[in-house]
Amino acid sequence: MRVLVVGSGAREHALCWAISASPLCEALYCAPGNPGIAAYATCAKVGVTDLSGLLQLCRDERIDFVVIGPEAPLVAGLVDHLEAQGVKCFGPTQAAAALEGSKGFTKDLCARMNIPTGSYLRVTDAEAAKAEIRRRGAPIVVKADGLAAGKGVVVAMTLGEALDAVDMLMLEKRFGDAGAELVIEEYLAGEEVSFFAITDGTHALALASAQDHKSVGEGDTGPNTGGMGAYSPAPALTLDLEARVMAEIIRPALTGMAQAGTPFTGVLFAGLMLTATGPQLIEFNARFGDPECEVLLRRLKSDLLTVLVAARDGVLDRVSLRWDDRAALGVVLAAEGYPGDPVKGTEIKGLEAAAENSPEIEIFHAGTAQRDGKLIADGGRVLVVTALGETVKAAQVAAYSAVDQIDWPGGFCRRDIGWRAVGR
Ligand code: AMP
Ligand code: GLY
Repeated sequence: MRVLVVGSGAREHALCWAISASPLCEALYCAPGNPGIAAYATCAKVGVTDLSGLLQLCRDERIDFVVIGPEAPLVAGLVDHLEAQGVKCFGPTQAAAALEGSKGFTKDLCARMNIPTGSYLRVTDAEAAKAEIRRRGAPIVVKADGLAAGKGVVVAMTLGEALDAVDMLMLEKRFGDAGAELVIEEYLAGEEVSFFAITDGTHALALASAQDHKSVGEGDTGPNTGGMGAYSPAPALTLDLEARVMAEIIRPALTGMAQAGTPFTGVLFAGLMLTATGPQLIEFNARFGDPECEVLLRRLKSDLLTVLVAARDGVLDRVSLRWDDRAALGVVLAAEGYPGDPVKGTEIKGLEAAAENSPEIEIFHAGTAQRDGKLIADGGRVLVVTALGETVKAAQVAAYSAVDQIDWPGGFCRRDIGWRAVGR
């Protein structure tokens, strides 16, 4: 097969790393890719939401199968666009990607299918939003309905913060049209875990458990990010809980989507809060998490491409997933300033030394670029250093010892990735 991966982050680097090892993969392309991905795939300078450019690339390179990493092209309808022209894709259609593209859509699905989640109200007017916030009181959660790069959610501990969030999202339009509609939602307390299932619309396979660290600061403090690190397995997600999540959240969601005539295929990523009354849905995403994908793929022993093709073809019941018993842990190295404005252009050295002679280490690139023969930082999250180990603790030690060999004064990382699992 001639395969194209769409995206340019560490998640797509990990996808290319795994797919290039498949006996089914004859040629691998990535759009737009990054310098790390270039070691595994031919990178093509086409943007992830350039639908016609991506179709042209598929034609030029005779691509058989496309794997889409990020949410923006899914929500923009890339799968519909390519499949209509006979190019097979792994990922949901535009209608199904509404599970990530519209938080209100997901909440309505939960209500219809009895999926446990916080109570909510959808509002399209700032006064109605504020009235609902005053009626419920704090703590309360205010969410932009549409895509806002993970930044459209305000978990407000006070009434004032919640009311300000309405102004920021609806009146100042910080995230443009994404904030034209809001979801006002009940605050859920508990431990957060990520849950992933691969699905062909009918059948679903749970992936191994994983947990990420969203806050920028140690001890899970400070502003939210896309994720500062992740590990798998996540001891918080026991087999018993996994069975409950499949039965109470994943399967009803897939049934509801199929009943609506918009079956969901691809990766269904459930952000969960483990509350006193059981797992509750915080949100769905329509793709692999980043950096969760990186640690999951380090542990996947089955051939990834075979699984993705089976999901596309509706025969996921014919495959199973095998996992490495070892733990995997990934540490994100970010550029100073992230999650605000990251400083770009600083030089990164020592990557080879950090990964050399250590089969347990893989370093995935996110926001890197090559300039004048040098590797430089070119984004917020820049590298993800992953390690395997007999335990989460052992993987943590190995990952940080590789991190310490990287020479990049312009970057920083959290030193406590995995603390919950290690503490247990
Ligand atoms: P989301 O983009 O929906 O994942 O929200 C971002 C983060 O906000 C989540 O990872 C949670 O930490 C937090 N969050 C979202 N919804 C709630 C909720 N109802 N209660 C408590 N925290 C929440
Ligand atoms: N790490 C969380 C996400 O990918 O949304």
